[in-house]
Amino acid sequence: MPSSLTIIFASISGHTEHVVDVIEASLKKSLPALVVRRIRAEMATKEDLEKADALLLASGTWNTGGAEGQLNPYMHELLIDKCKDTKLPAKPMAFVSLGDDRYYFTARCTEGFLRFLKECGGKQILPPLIVVNEPYDQHERIERWTEKLATGLR
Ligand SMILES: Cc1cc2nc3c(=O)[nH]c(=O)nc-3n(C[C@H](O)[C@H](O)[C@H](O)COP(=O)(O)O)c2cc1C
Repeated sequence: MPSSLTIIFASISGHTEHVVDVIEASLKKSLPALVVRRIRAEMATKEDLEKADALLLASGTWNTGGAEGQLNPYMHELLIDKCKDTKLPAKPMAFVSLGDDRYYFTARCTEGFLRFLKECGGKQILPPLIVVNEPYDQHERIERWTEKLATGLR
C-alpha cells in the first residue's frame, strides 16, 4: 500500500474543493495510516507529481482556450504545459471530474485526464468519479467511490 496520497485539485467556485474535502474525510476513516497531501493545481509542480506515491487529480470542466469540455485552466496548465512529456510509469492514479448538465460537453474534462494518464504511463486505480451539478447533496456517491479508492490503495 502506498504510504501517502497526493491530491492535486483545481477549483474556481469551490465545488471540486468540496468533493476533495469529502474524499479526504472519508479516507481518514477508512485508511487512518495514509498520509494525505493536498496541493492546489496553481501551486503544484512537476516534482509534486513525480514524488507522489499515489496521485488523485480533481478538476471541474471549463472552456479553457475557448472550447467547452476542457480541464480547468490551472489543471490544464499543470498537466499539458508544465508536465508535458512527463513519464510516471505505473504510478497509481485516480481522477475526479466535475461538470454541469447545462453544458453540452458535460464533465468532459475526464477525457483530458485520461489523455494525460495514457501519455504519462500511470496506472488507474479505479474508474473516474464524475460529479454532475452541485456536489453538496452527493456525499453518499462520493463516499461510496472513496471506499473503492481505499480498497484499490490497500
Ligand atoms: C466559464 C465556465 C465554463 C464551463 N464549462 C463547462 C463545460 O464545458 N462542461 C461542463 O460540464 N461544465 C462546465 N462548467 C461548469 C463547471 O465545471 C462546474 O460548475 C463545476 O462544478 C465547477 O467546479 P469548481 O467550482 O470546482 O471550479 C463551466 C463553468 C464555467 C463558469
